[in-house]
Amino acid sequence: MSLANRHILLGVTGGIAAYKAAELARLLVKAGARVQVVMTRSAGEFIGAMTFQAITGKETRSDLFDSAHEAAMGHIELARWADLVIIAPATANFIALMARGSANDLLSTLCLATAAPVVVAPAMNRQMWSDPATQANIETLQEHGRLILGPAAGEQACGDVGPGRMLEPADIFDAVNGMFTSGALAGVRALVTAGPTREAIDPVRFIGNRSSGKMGFAIAQALEEQGAEVTLVAGPSQLPTPSGVTRIDVEAALEMHNAVMQIAADCDLFVATAAVADYRPETVASSKIKKTAESQEMRLVRNPDILADVAALASGPFTVGFAAETDNVVAYADEKRQRKCIDMIAANDVSSQSGGGFDSDENALHVLWEGGQQELPMTGKLRLARQLVELISQKIHA
Ligand SMILES: Cc1cc2nc3c(=O)[nH]c(=O)nc-3n(C[C@H](O)[C@H](O)[C@H](O)COP(=O)(O)O)c2cc1C
Repeated sequence: MSLANRHILLGVTGGIAAYKAAELARLLVKAGARVQVVMTRSAGEFIGAMTFQAITGKETRSDLFDSAHEAAMGHIELARWADLVIIAPATANFIALMARGSANDLLSTLCLATAAPVVVAPAMNRQMWSDPATQANIETLQEHGRLILGPAAGEQACGDVGPGRMLEPADIFDAVNGMFTSGALAGVRALVTAGPTREAIDPVRFIGNRSSGKMGFAIAQALEEQGAEVTLVAGPSQLPTPSGVTRIDVEAALEMHNAVMQIAADCDLFVATAAVADYRPETVASSKIKKTAESQEMRLVRNPDILADVAALASGPFTVGFAAETDNVVAYADEKRQRKCIDMIAANDVSSQSGGGFDSDENALHVLWEGGQQELPMTGKLRLARQLVELISQKIHA
């Protein structure tokens, strides 16, 4: 895992160190990242948009009210596009804007609208840095989960000596690069299944289920964030492929079984979140079944059990299953874990009163393993996925 193909939004604000952001952009581009620069109006007083455009190959953006861009990749798309936002240099003014959640230009709006991590590299006169207002703003940003890189101390452009210099571009680059390479699962080959399956009845009909794939896609993303090499075998789903994840699309349970069994033996971790049909029609009509008979019978046959087959592999991967249950959730899940000889199971209450589960953006899990269990309370699926991945990572390393 590396910066290659990562979407980096580089925000440049109006300080003298703005010229150094060009070198940072160059280092990121050289590492294979896709870099989009967004400048504040003041940054334009210090460095030309054309410099960044030449380095990144992308038009530098700065206007929030830009009808041409809003019709194409508008501010929200840009915020979603980013895997990481770096503000370098970050002026005292911009840090204050961020701390109070202002959104009065393109860059500050993006910082609010993105779900990506935001890294801030302050750069200012030492007096501005030590001012209690700036210090309080920095504390606020940290509380909000923003990562503050630097500043360094030393000679400043204004002649002062002290803290406030922006970290050197190479140091910022190293820190950012480390975020993508030193995950707890670096080197781990992970295989994730997600989404529903479709069991064909005839060319136009199928037996499906209500799985959206959101949980599995979030787990694939969370694993990738931790440095794992992730392959996602997905049933029919419109969800976008998480950045850096290799996706294999399948329809029916048998196809999913084939795809998984081809790769599983070479993997270190298998997370089965897909809602795989237990049964499929014994025969698939070759043309559309007509509405003539008063009643129809359909014989169903068992599909192979993907999770159990992977768990049965000699020296197979660490296996994590999901159990979607509507009652006796924990007891059924633990029984399933033991019967299928899987290492860990995440029980998922999909009853109507649970508020999570299929197609919801939120979920809660009860995770069980041999000799232990942990409750992961209701939260957004990506957040939950990151918590589950943390647990998996602990167990794998144990
Ligand atoms: C020559 C000059 C250099 C400046 N350097 C800095 C600086 O290094 N850091 C800083 O926080 N502000 C600096 N400022 C002040 C900012 O440019 C000013 O606060 C501006 O409003 C910042 O806008 P922005 O945060 O939207 O980019 C400087 C101003 C001037 C005129």
